[in-house]
Amino acid sequence: MIDLRSDTVTRPTPAMRRAMAEAEVGDDVYMEDPTVNRLQERAAEVFNREAALFMPTGSMCNQVAVKLHTKPGSEVVIEERGHIYNYEMAAMSAISGTLARPVKSPDADGILDWAAIQTGLHTNAAYYVAPTSLIALENSHNLAGGTLMTKERTDEICRQAHDINLPVHLDGARIFNAAIALNETVADLSASVDSLMFCLSKGLGAPVGSMLLGDKNFIEEARRWRKLLGGGMRQVGVLAAAGLIALEESPKLLHHDHAHAKRLAEGIAETRGCEIDPTRVQTNIVIFDVTHTGIEANEICAHLKHQGVLASGFGNAIRMVTHYDISRADVDRALVALRGVVRESSHAALNG
Ligand SMILES: Cc1ncc(COP(=O)(O)O)c(C=O)c1O
Repeated sequence: MIDLRSDTVTRPTPAMRRAMAEAEVGDDVYMEDPTVNRLQERAAEVFNREAALFMPTGSMCNQVAVKLHTKPGSEVVIEERGHIYNYEMAAMSAISGTLARPVKSPDADGILDWAAIQTGLHTNAAYYVAPTSLIALENSHNLAGGTLMTKERTDEICRQAHDINLPVHLDGARIFNAAIALNETVADLSASVDSLMFCLSKGLGAPVGSMLLGDKNFIEEARRWRKLLGGGMRQVGVLAAAGLIALEESPKLLHHDHAHAKRLAEGIAETRGCEIDPTRVQTNIVIFDVTHTGIEANEICAHLKHQGVLASGFGNAIRMVTHYDISRADVDRALVALRGVVRESSHAALNG
């Protein structure tokens, strides 16, 4: 199977498996797991932050950050396709008592600017209007197709937000992809946000885990909330060991995923009825419109599966994500399969 559904499907590398087998461990609820401690110190160092915390998932990192930055009855401004708003089970209302205030990006690329954020801000509003307590950004932006927010844009949003005492949290699930595509370090790219998270378990290839970063007080409070939510883990150094390898080794390889995504997008653009602008594919996520094939996205995905290719369909679009387990040859095979499916389905439709 060529699995292009997500970069979460990667399996641990042989080096990760070896490190997991040999990991030194302790009880991490007592903060005595040396491998977890090393991973947290190393992540803080890479991002030039005071502290970091290992969490089971990116969603838990995001939701703990929302909890710490906000008060019940307040609002979080977020781009309308943001992961925190769309795919985290309304957790910001369930856990933090907050409401998402979705706003539109100026272009279709999901990348906010200050003017767009202002359309959703309630800062000096009447007492009976829920105040804004947080701005949540996402880089790269998953549902907008792995798009990028530059350092300049991020810094400008943070400067404006901080001027009115609003914190900014960054969902950096794929910030290493963003940094490599923008030719920045992850530390510089995220320097101005108040907190951020990144996932070890996506393009970096670890089996499990995400990191929340911020200042010391923030991370101490985050540790308490992680425990409250049932995320206090014990000899979890077996997972942190894979995370350390993901953090040190995987970023060097991400440019291959980006080249593969570009190649995939170029091939898709040449496929009848499939619409995508390959110049807009900047990282490892490829989303294309299939309306003009005359076949539903889910149906195309079902046919692709028979050809050994897995992709995700939503609405009129299909998402394909390249990752460490996908080679250039896999990309070419996926393109052959896609063309075959579109051709055969349209013949069937004509004959039927
Ligand atoms: C942008 C973004 N943020 C957060 C998450 C959540 O990560 P997890 O699946 O580890 O909860 C994802 C997962 O796909 C994501 O794409």
